[in-house]
Amino acid sequence: MNGSGLPENIPPHAEPASGGGVLSWIDRRLPVISAFRKEYVDFPMPRNLNALWNFGAILCAVLVLMLATGIFLAMNYTPTAAGAFMSIEMIERQLPGGWALRAMHVTGASLFMAALYIHLFRGLYYGSYKQPREILWLSGLGLLVMVMVTAFAGYVLPWGQMSYWGADVAGKAVGAVPVIGPTLEHIMEGSDQLGDIFIHRFFVLHFVMAFAIVAIVGLHVAALHVPGPNNPTGKPVNARDTVPFHPYYTTKDLTGLVVFALVFAALAFLWPDLLSEPENYRPATPLHTPADIEPEWYFLPFYGMLQSVPSKFGGLLAAGGSIAILFAVPWLDRSSIRSARSRPLCRAGMAGLVAAFVLMGLVGRHHAEGGWMIVGRIATLYYFSYFLVLLPLCARREMRGTAG
Ligand code: HEM
Repeated sequence: MNGSGLPENIPPHAEPASGGGVLSWIDRRLPVISAFRKEYVDFPMPRNLNALWNFGAILCAVLVLMLATGIFLAMNYTPTAAGAFMSIEMIERQLPGGWALRAMHVTGASLFMAALYIHLFRGLYYGSYKQPREILWLSGLGLLVMVMVTAFAGYVLPWGQMSYWGADVAGKAVGAVPVIGPTLEHIMEGSDQLGDIFIHRFFVLHFVMAFAIVAIVGLHVAALHVPGPNNPTGKPVNARDTVPFHPYYTTKDLTGLVVFALVFAALAFLWPDLLSEPENYRPATPLHTPADIEPEWYFLPFYGMLQSVPSKFGGLLAAGGSIAILFAVPWLDRSSIRSARSRPLCRAGMAGLVAAFVLMGLVGRHHAEGGWMIVGRIATLYYFSYFLVLLPLCARREMRGTAG
C-alpha cells in the first residue's frame, strides 16, 4: 500500500488532487479531477491567440444551447405530415415560453453555421490543418458534414412549404447519382410521396446526429490537446510564451461569449425573422410549388454550385466536391510555412476564395439565372483551382525558397 491507500502496483496518473476531502478521495481512484485540471485549468496556451480563437468555445456554447432547446421542442413536436406544422404553431403560440425556445433554436442554427465557417476559415488561414494537427482538421470536417446534415434534417421538420420543396430538390439531386441514385432517394424519402415516413426518418436523424456531434466534439478537442493550439504566427511557441488556460483564456472566452450572446439575443428576440424564409410559414402542400425554392443562407453557396453546373449529377459532384476537397488540404499544401500571415501569395488567393464563396451564395440566391450563371461557373472554377493549383504551387515555391 502507498500513502494514497491504493496498492503499490497501481500507476499514478496526472498529479492527484491534493488534500484529504471527498474530491481527492475520488480523484485517487478515478483521476477525472486532476485530468480536468491538467487539460482545462493549467493547460499551457500560446499567449498571442487573437479573437478568432474564441469561436471554438462559442461553438461549444451554442451546441449546448441547441441541445437544451431542442430537447424541449422535441417534447412538443409531432413528427407527422398532418401534425408537424400545427405542433410548431402550438409551440409558438400556446406553449409557455415556446416562442423563445423556437427563436433560440432557429437563430442558434444560423449562428452555429456562421461560427463554424469563421472557425474553419481561421484554421485554413493560419494553417492549423498542418502536421501534427491533421486529425484535428479531419475531425472538424467530420463535424462540419454532421452539422450540415443535422441542419438540413431540422429544416424539414416544421413541414412548411420550404421544408417540403427543399426536401424535394434534395431528393431529386440524390436521385441523379448514376446507378444507385434512385435507391438512395428511396432510402432517404421512404415512399413515393414525401410525408410521414420521411418526416419520421428526418426527426430521428436530427435527434441522433445532435448527440453524435457531441461525441465527435469530444474527440476533436482531445486531438487539439495533443499538440496544443496553433497561433497566429504559425510558429511553435516556447514554454515562456505560454499562459495557463485559466484564468487567461477562460476570461477571454467568456468575453467573446458575451459579445456573441448580444448578437444572438438581438437576432433571436428583436429580429427573429431576419434569417428565416417567410415561405416556410405556409404549411407544406405538394400542389403548389413556391416561385423561389431556396435553402437557408448558409447552404446558398453550395446551392449556387449545384445550379451553375449544367448537369444535375455534375452539380451534385461540384457541391459535394467543394467539401470533400477540404479533407485533402493537409496533403495539398506541403509548405513548411504555416500561417498565411507569412504567405502573401496564399493570402491573396484566400481573399479570392472568400469572394468566390460569397459570390456562389449570391448565385444561389439568384438561381444561377442570366449573368449569374457565368459568375457561378467562374467562382466554382476558382474555388477548386485555389485548392488544386494555387495552394500546391504556392507551397512548392515556398519550399524552394526555404531550401535555397
Ligand atoms: C461542432 C463544431 C465544432 C466545435 C464545437 C469545435 C470546437 C473546437 C474547440 C473548442 C477548439 C479549441 C478552441 C479554438 O481553437 O477555437 C477547436 C479548435 C480547432 N478546430 Fe474546431 N470545432 C468544430 C468544428 C470544426 C471544423 C468544421 C473545423 C474545420 C475543419 C475545425 C477545426 C479546428 C482546428 C484546426 C482547431 C485548432 C485551431 C488552432 O489551434 O489553430 N473545427 N475546435
